[in-house]
Amino acid sequence: MDDIKISGLSKIFHSKKSNITALKNISLSINKGEIFGLLGPNGAGKTTLISILAGVTTPDNGTVTMLGKNVQTHYKEIQQEINIVRGFSGVLQNISTRELLKYYAKLYSVEEKGAIDAMRKTGIWEKRDCIVSDLSSGWRQRFFLAKALLNNPKILLLDEPTAGLDVHAARTMRLLLKQLNNEHCTLLLTTHNMQEAEELCDRIAVIHKGEIVAVGTSKQLKTSSKSTTLEGVFLNLTKEAEDERST
Ligand SMILES: Nc1ncnc2c1ncn2[C@@H]1O[C@H](COP(=O)(O)OP(=O)(O)OP(=O)(O)O)[C@@H](O)[C@H]1O
Ligand SMILES: [Mg+2]
Repeated sequence: MDDIKISGLSKIFHSKKSNITALKNISLSINKGEIFGLLGPNGAGKTTLISILAGVTTPDNGTVTMLGKNVQTHYKEIQQEINIVRGFSGVLQNISTRELLKYYAKLYSVEEKGAIDAMRKTGIWEKRDCIVSDLSSGWRQRFFLAKALLNNPKILLLDEPTAGLDVHAARTMRLLLKQLNNEHCTLLLTTHNMQEAEELCDRIAVIHKGEIVAVGTSKQLKTSSKSTTLEGVFLNLTKEAEDERST
């Protein structure tokens, strides 16, 4: 069964100088229980797509169905069942992780126990008395993951969850994500790390200039692209982007 179904999604950003086509007629299905990776060069449209799924950005055309409900018409219901982790995002406060998570829990109408569960699950419990703005990058990401788990989401959207993390912190984050997936959370994540995509993702889509140019397992993508590595696949499929950058 599809947990996320995207049909004919398009988005153009209008500015005074120009119109930027961020997404062109994207269609994609993500299965229940899947870890799905979105790869693409800078500016390919990954964050735009995630933002539309999270209901933060409105598409110009197309529909998104999550957990069988249309995102546009059932926005509030869907918000209760999904959540998002953005790379290094969120306002950092001068209070302890525990206090801030308790505050967010209240916003979500989640009991304090829910906040403690999320802290234990992500290990941030260890830093419960630390000031949020003093946390290292790895712990910050774990804090944001804990925040995203407050509503016990069935679908988690993650925009570059390991960007800027050192090897240990990135590994911890990946292990946490696998654990969440084992507990039946469907994950859609973006990454620039090919090894991470290969290790984590059941299937991968490559997005280039706002269009999906390939979808499949890492093995399928390598076979169809006649490449032995995922990096090779990515470079083949997005070659044009690099050519344009060097001219
Ligand atoms: N709010 C906005 N206003 C105008 N243009 C935007 C806006 N957000 C994104 N864009 C443009 O849309 C395109 C897609 O951007 P997006 O952030 O989705 O790419 P991305 O794949 O997430 O890139 P990165 O890997 O750098 O994070 C880019 O050309 C970007 O400049
Ligand atoms: Mg992005």
